[in-house]
Amino acid sequence: MERNDRGNFGSKLGVILASAGSAVGLGNIWRFPFETGNHGGAAFILIYLGCVLLMGIPILVAEFMIGRRSRANTARAYQKLAPGTQWRWVGRLCVLTGFLILSYYSVVAGWTLEFIVQAGTNSFAGKSPAEFIDLFNNFVSNPWRPLIWLIVFLLATHFVIVRGVEKGIEQSAKIMMPALFILLLVLVGCAVSLPGAGAGLKFLLEPDFSKVNASVLLGAMAQAFFSLSLGMGCLCTYASYFRKDTDLPKTAFNVAWIDTAVAVLAGFIIFPAAFSVGIQPDAGPSLIFITLPNVFQQAFGSLPWLSVILSVMFYVLLALAALTSTISLHEVVTAYLHEEFNMTRKKAAWLVTTGCIVIGIFCSLSLGVGKDYTLFGMTLFDLFDYVTAKIMLPVGGFFISIFAGWYIDRKIAWEEISNNGTLHPLIYKVLIFVLKFIAPVCIAFILINELGLL
Ligand code: PFF
Repeated sequence: MERNDRGNFGSKLGVILASAGSAVGLGNIWRFPFETGNHGGAAFILIYLGCVLLMGIPILVAEFMIGRRSRANTARAYQKLAPGTQWRWVGRLCVLTGFLILSYYSVVAGWTLEFIVQAGTNSFAGKSPAEFIDLFNNFVSNPWRPLIWLIVFLLATHFVIVRGVEKGIEQSAKIMMPALFILLLVLVGCAVSLPGAGAGLKFLLEPDFSKVNASVLLGAMAQAFFSLSLGMGCLCTYASYFRKDTDLPKTAFNVAWIDTAVAVLAGFIIFPAAFSVGIQPDAGPSLIFITLPNVFQQAFGSLPWLSVILSVMFYVLLALAALTSTISLHEVVTAYLHEEFNMTRKKAAWLVTTGCIVIGIFCSLSLGVGKDYTLFGMTLFDLFDYVTAKIMLPVGGFFISIFAGWYIDRKIAWEEISNNGTLHPLIYKVLIFVLKFIAPVCIAFILINELGLL
């Protein structure tokens, strides 16, 4: 059943900050640096920037267009714009993807809270690199601590969601996003002034194109999808709360550059700091949770109070970034249940929170006491990550670009995208061309490659 008591973002700034809040998250501060490290640095970053420009921004515009035009949750959006067709399954796939990502993303988000406490109680002091590895492994395999933080994190997300669109999502983003930027800039300043930081800067700024191969290219494209929250109706749902006068291409551009800036700034914290204490840039996913405490300890060990302040700041920043993303994931599913099953927003939110806690607990335990139970050779946590990020997001993105490029009426597309006819027709044509041809072909290529069919 359709409900008409939908919320709205109150201001243009709120629209941009909430959307950028969704995009900016663990993907930027945790995944981007380790992907950059694994793929050789500056050349990866340049290709990533190309992907954001060429595919990211057009698909962002497509999701915005679908959401604002339909003014509905992402599942209903397709039913409204393509009544009586199978397109509704794309919307439902998006909702399912959001629910599954939220369940395991919250596990990692919860870890950031543990690390705030560890950093704040000065427990990094005097530890060797091996001890940092033990600290992380012991925590992750502890049967209850990660579960508590998972529940705390999901309840924090829940609290914002039940406050509604304008008071909850918009207000929290208005406070959190600027705080995040300020924290990032302070930490960049500290990291680049460390002795020996120059090697890290060189790694970030001097591209070595001889290292570029198909895997670098595909890694950069996949990272652009995950980081921009594309392919699962997140920004489509947010756009359903946009006002008629919101300029969609401009908002998409703003979200893309803010997201990219945060990722690059995170690189400017992590690599100069890592090089400064002789840590390899390709340390992988452990870079933040194992290597950085070590970096803080070694770099600022002679000034313990500074080490505590900076490390607490870093993990607070990571938690804030993750929170604005979990809020957007939660909203996709809450809006769907609230509007499709005629239940109150509060009840819908409780269902989502409870469901995610249950699944999240299993994902978290699969890294510790349950690590011997595997499916297709993966723990439950890895399986969720694989299925959602590597299969469901690209499939969603593929259909979204086909829907926007081929199916949707040209008149509707122009009305939504042109910002009252002020957009240059050439930009519009380029956007549609990319959605029709370039984006679907590239996504199909990523997907086929990731499934090992190439
Ligand atoms: N973009 C978020 C990040 O970079 O952490 C993760 C994410 C949020 C992915 C929302 C997908 C999504 F719909």
